[in-house]
Amino acid sequence: MKIACLAGDGIGPEIMAEALKVLDVLAIEGLELGHADVGGTAYHKHGHPLPPETLALCQASDAVLFGAVGDPTCDALERHLRPEQAILGLRQALTLFANLRPATMFAGLEDLSALRPEVARQIDLLIVRELNGDVYFGEKAIRTLPDGRRQGYDFMSYAEDEVRRIAHVAFRAAQGRKKTLCSVDKANVLETSQLWRDVVIEVSAEYPDVALSHMYVDNAAMQLVRNPGQFDVVVTGNLFGDILSDQASMCVGSIGLLASASLGEKQTQYGTLGLYEPIHGSAPDIAGQGKANPMAMILSLAMLLRHSLGLEAQAARVEAAVAQALADGIKGADLGGSHGTAAIGDAVASRL
Ligand code: NAD
Ligand code: IPM
Ligand code: MN
Repeated sequence: MKIACLAGDGIGPEIMAEALKVLDVLAIEGLELGHADVGGTAYHKHGHPLPPETLALCQASDAVLFGAVGDPTCDALERHLRPEQAILGLRQALTLFANLRPATMFAGLEDLSALRPEVARQIDLLIVRELNGDVYFGEKAIRTLPDGRRQGYDFMSYAEDEVRRIAHVAFRAAQGRKKTLCSVDKANVLETSQLWRDVVIEVSAEYPDVALSHMYVDNAAMQLVRNPGQFDVVVTGNLFGDILSDQASMCVGSIGLLASASLGEKQTQYGTLGLYEPIHGSAPDIAGQGKANPMAMILSLAMLLRHSLGLEAQAARVEAAVAQALADGIKGADLGGSHGTAAIGDAVASRL
C-alpha cells in the first residue's frame, strides 16, 4: 500500500504532520509513504507547482494525501505556474471527478455553529461536487475586444457524460444514506445547468428508490443556513460545490473540520484511487503559528483509509478519536479553544 504525501504550502505541512502522527499510531502493516513538493513550495524549488516527479509519485500510489496549496507571493505569476494549478492538475491528471465533502454535526459543537444550535444539530449531509469540468476547466482569458476594452472570459460547459458519471456517484451515495438526493443548479438561467438537470433526471430512472429533487443554487445557499437538516446528499457542479461546501463548514462550526475525498473510476488492489484533502486552503493568515486545526486533515486521512485502502475499521477508529477529542473539549482557535495544531494531533492520537 502506497500513499503519496503532498504537504504543500502555508498550514499544509503543519496539518500533514498531525495526520502522519495519527497514521503512525495505526501502525498499518505494508504501508509505504512517499513525499513530494507541490504548490508554491514546488514552484520556488523546481519552477513548477506540479513537478513531473510529484505527478509520477501520485500515479504510482494507491492514494494521495494532500495538505493545501496557495502562496500569496505567487498570485501575480502566469496562471499555469500558480500553486492552485497543482491541485487542479492532479484532479485532472488522475481523473478524480467525484469530490465527496461530508458535513456532519459533531456532538458538543452545536453552540459553535454559525447557526442556532437546534438548527445546527440536524446537519448530516454529503456534498457530491463534480471536479473535472464546469467553468474551472473551460477556455479562459483576459482578452482585448476590438474596441480596446479588456474582457475576462471563462467558458462554462458540461458534457452529458460528465454529468452522468457524477450523477451515478451521487445516486449510489444516496442509496447508502437516507435515499434523498438534491441536485443543485442554475437551470433558470444557464444552459449548462439545464443540461445538467435533464441528465440527472435521465439517470434517476435507474434509481427508483432515491427521491430526487432540484434546487436553484441561490435558494440552496439560503436553505443551507435556514434548514440544513433537509439535505441528505447534494450533487452539484464544480463551482457551486466549491462555494456551498465552504458555507456548510461554518454550519458545522469551522472550516477546519471538513474533509474531502476526490475519486475517479480507477481501482487499485485495495480500493479506489483517490486524493484526500481538507476543503480549506493554505490559510496564509495563520501559517507558521501552530494555530491551524488539523482535524479536517486527519478526517481526510480517515476517508483515505476507507476509500483507497479498504480499511473501514481503521477509518472509523480515526473518526471516533476526532469526535471523542471534540467531545472532551479539545478545540483549536477556530472553534474558540486554545489548543494548538500539535496538541490537537496528540489528543486525537492518544484517543486511538
Ligand atoms: P483558506 O481556506 O485558506 O482560509 C480561509 C480562512 O479560514 C482563513 O482565515 C484561515 O485562517 C481559516 N482556516 C482555514 N483552514 C483552517 C484550519 N485548518 N484551521 C483554522 N483556520 C483555518 O482560504 P483563502 O484564504 O481564501 O485561501 C488561501 C489560499 O489557499 C489561496 O491561495 C487559495 O487559492 C488556496 N486554497 C487552496 C485549497 C486547496 O489546496 N485545495 C483550497 C482552498 C483555498
Ligand atoms: C478547493 C479549492 C480549490 C477549488 C482551489 C484552490 C483551486 O478552493 O479545493 O475547494 O476551487 O477547487
Ligand atoms: Mn474551495
